[in-house]
Amino acid sequence: MNSPGAVAFVSEVEGRVTGFIIGRQVADEAEVLNLAVAPMARRKGQGGALLKTVLEEFRMLSVRRVYLEVRESNMIARTFYAKHGFSQTGKRLKYYRKPEEAAIVMEMRLAG
Ligand SMILES: CC(C)(COP(=O)(O)OP(=O)(O)OC[C@H]1O[C@@H](n2cnc3c(N)ncnc32)[C@H](O)[C@@H]1OP(=O)(O)O)[C@@H](O)C(=O)NCCC(=O)NCCS
Repeated sequence: MNSPGAVAFVSEVEGRVTGFIIGRQVADEAEVLNLAVAPMARRKGQGGALLKTVLEEFRMLSVRRVYLEVRESNMIARTFYAKHGFSQTGKRLKYYRKPEEAAIVMEMRLAG
């Protein structure tokens, strides 16, 4: 979070952190580095709220293109990101370890 361009938000329920998102902006591009919602708190819109908040922050920072990598087998996250306007633009073989797996690259354009 101390690195240049880092943007991070948490979601809370009754004062306890139940989700977080971390992104990084470099010039007019930004990456979603990590997003997670606690299992008990999922499917209630928190992930969507975190993503919308970080996208709004990126928009204010004049970002035009946002991208991310997600494990190929993580269909929940791929569906989630697609619902929020991301489309698949590439695939990186052997990107993840333990277990080894390809990354699906997804991206979206932000309106100016
Ligand atoms: C991906 C993740 C952050 C979504 O968080 P969430 O708070 O459950 O998401 P939301 O409630 O905002 O869901 C928004 C939409 O995503 C899709 N979605 C979310 N969970 C889903 C599931 N289990 N099955 C199918 N679609 C799902 C749905 O389209 C959902 O809309 P709907 O509930 O109206 O159908 C959460 O599942 C998570 O923490 N997963 C583990 C970590 C991870 O994979 N992170 C992403 C990779 S970096």
